[in-house]
Amino acid sequence: MAQKTRELVKDIADELIRLLNKAYADELIAYFYYKTAALLVKGIHANTIADQLEEIAQEELEHSEELAERIIQLGGEPLDDWDAITKNANYPKIDIPEDRSDYVGILKAVHVAEQGAIGVYDDLMKFLQSSQTKDPVTTHLIRHIMGEEMHHEEEIETLLGL
Ligand SMILES: [Fe+2]
Ligand SMILES: [Fe+2]
Repeated sequence: MAQKTRELVKDIADELIRLLNKAYADELIAYFYYKTAALLVKGIHANTIADQLEEIAQEELEHSEELAERIIQLGGEPLDDWDAITKNANYPKIDIPEDRSDYVGILKAVHVAEQGAIGVYDDLMKFLQSSQTKDPVTTHLIRHIMGEEMHHEEEIETLLGL
């Protein structure tokens, strides 16, 4: 824990850590499904789709690391077992189609997940903005991650031709 950091936000720290941990769970789950889809995708455009899925997977992993670091600075701990990850996630599952060459189905599944993630970060921003106690550092982090989720949404929509 970073003592002064914790002191500055002590009124909201527990709720903030709880919300950050839920987002942390979402990011790890997103990483897992993106990575799995990148490994399994088949068919004539498999390389293109796999490259895009892999790139996003790495960014979701980075998000999970950034959230975990902030949770620790605030005096919390990131969730430490997989049951807790699936129980606390806002989006515990991404439904990747059984047909590994169903690009549209795969992309639609991750598109839903990205829109869910944008909603989660929007709620976190609203919580931070409505709190009496301000936390500019977490606000900056959430804004950064939210921007990347919006970029993911746009990339997936481009592939889907939306
Ligand atoms: Fe993410
Ligand atoms: Fe994303």
